[in-house]
Amino acid sequence: MKEQLAKIQAEALSAIAQAASPAALEELRVRCLGKKGELTAILKQMGRLSPQERPAMGQLANDVRAAIEEALERAKKDLHAKALEARLQAETVDVTIPGRAVETGRRHPMYIALDEIKDIFVGMGFDILDGPEVELAEYNFDRLNAEEGHPSRDWSDTFYFDADSRVMLRSQTSPMQVRAMDSRKPPIRIIAPGRVYRKDEVDATHSPMFHQVEGMVIDKGVTMADLKGTLNMMVEQLYGKGTVTRFRPHHFPFTEPSCEMDVQCHKCGGAGCATCKGEGWIELLGAGMIHPRVLEMAGIDPEVWSGWAFGMGLERTAMRRFRIADLRLIFENDMRFLEQF
Ligand code: PHE
Repeated sequence: MKEQLAKIQAEALSAIAQAASPAALEELRVRCLGKKGELTAILKQMGRLSPQERPAMGQLANDVRAAIEEALERAKKDLHAKALEARLQAETVDVTIPGRAVETGRRHPMYIALDEIKDIFVGMGFDILDGPEVELAEYNFDRLNAEEGHPSRDWSDTFYFDADSRVMLRSQTSPMQVRAMDSRKPPIRIIAPGRVYRKDEVDATHSPMFHQVEGMVIDKGVTMADLKGTLNMMVEQLYGKGTVTRFRPHHFPFTEPSCEMDVQCHKCGGAGCATCKGEGWIELLGAGMIHPRVLEMAGIDPEVWSGWAFGMGLERTAMRRFRIADLRLIFENDMRFLEQF
């Protein structure tokens, strides 16, 4: 019996030393010390011993039980410590790795230019209007005196939604003139910035989607001199005092007389270079006195009221303002470009 006890202890201790998990330890505990365990089985044989042998053997059995229990306890603690160690190892944070900087966004150059334009016109008492990009051909063309058969109405120039050519992506912000006349009573002073769409190929100065700012004034006694004065003032505030402009006669169905306004090229100062295609001037906007027919169609008496309107390309304005050579840079969202503003 003595040998049996010694064997149980030796085997148990070596098995405990090799146990790799708390579950394995528990299994060992049940096998050695449980009700149906090896030690219990030995103790049940105690009755067969002589009274003289019994105390010593009982003592020995208790010692074996205590040794195994202690070994189990220690192994449990060790396993726990090892698991903790492994977890700490796995979750170490290397505090020497440089942090990821939070990038702050900034305004896009075109919107900087637009905000400046808005400030200038709000300062002169204009309201800012917003309108739909999906527009009725009626507003984009008919009410603007662009008769059936006008080249800009052609399918090759305009994005239509229906076979009847009645709903379209607006090709200009000028329908906002009509919307303003329909929703307000003169005197009217508004600007209306927004996206416009034309079937153009992408190049350094063209894009099928671009932005315009429409401007319109209707009041009594408004003349071409007011138009020129207002636009010159805007240009000087945008580009600096002494910026030279030029007004050329032009044609738009909804203005009479019509003109285009150029600013002297910032690159060559008017001598002619690649940026201005050798012209010395860069075209900035179309404008003119609102055609009496357009006023009449909106129910405004052209004998009492007169007005002017302009439509300027926003990309071009920003390009002139920030000396950007290629229109595509404005839409590509290249961080190296955007970070410069
Ligand atoms: N809508 C015209 C264009 O896109 C510009 C314009 C606006 C001309 C207002 C005259 C008056 O070319």
